[in-house]
Amino acid sequence: MDFFETVKRRRSVRRYTQEPVPSTVIETALDAALLAPNSSNLQTWEFYWVQSPDKKAALVKSCLNQGAARTAQELIVVVSNPNLYKKTAPELLKRLNSPNAPKEIGFYYGKLVPVLYGWTILAPVKWLIFNLVGLFRPIMRRPWSSRDIDEVCIKSAALASENFMLAVAAQGYDSCPMEGFDECRVKRILRLGYRHRVVMVISVGRRDPKGIWGEQLRFSKDWFVKRI
Ligand SMILES: Cc1cc2nc3c(=O)[nH]c(=O)nc-3n(C[C@H](O)[C@H](O)[C@H](O)COP(=O)(O)O)c2cc1C
Repeated sequence: MDFFETVKRRRSVRRYTQEPVPSTVIETALDAALLAPNSSNLQTWEFYWVQSPDKKAALVKSCLNQGAARTAQELIVVVSNPNLYKKTAPELLKRLNSPNAPKEIGFYYGKLVPVLYGWTILAPVKWLIFNLVGLFRPIMRRPWSSRDIDEVCIKSAALASENFMLAVAAQGYDSCPMEGFDECRVKRILRLGYRHRVVMVISVGRRDPKGIWGEQLRFSKDWFVKRI
């Protein structure tokens, strides 16, 4: 499907038909999700494809029993996990050995990333350093807190979510992203730890004729696009 057609085809579907979704559709969409741009290529995301009927039923309940989850054929939970840097940073160090890669990469993944993603106890020190240096030259003011790191990882996971949904649309199926869920309960179902954040639950299926509320409603472009 043409890219712009796919973008227009994707809608948030609140009611699906009973038609099963071939697992290849989900696999292909997951492959597309994993190709999303992400912060420092640390790939701090996880995708839980919930297949066990018991877990699925519990997940629907945790999604407040909303139609987009209740009638879905498949449910995927997109999660951010900053601690994945411990696995991905050393691997990037090993594999980024092309002559085109900047020479600072060793310092970046070997020293800076562990300080930014770990060492959370030193958050006020990081804040102070960034803001002192920032008085004299441009410097990234964040991430200094673990909340900032969460934000970085959530941005990447959100981009992966969009790749996933567009890939579902390109294959003629439908989806709905959801943040209407009880995060504590979802984390319990998936046995997630303290640093994980549940970014989105994405449902997939074939849209029911009544699954869409109407035309795609967007406001005037000049409300949002500022040319300065
Ligand atoms: C982060 C996020 C959370 C959302 N959560 C829900 C949700 O819990 N339930 C739901 O029915 N739709 C949810 N939506 C879908 C939006 O309501 C929908 O994208 C918006 O109304 C625009 O409609 P469209 O996607 O069909 O263009 C969510 C969308 C995003 C991006």
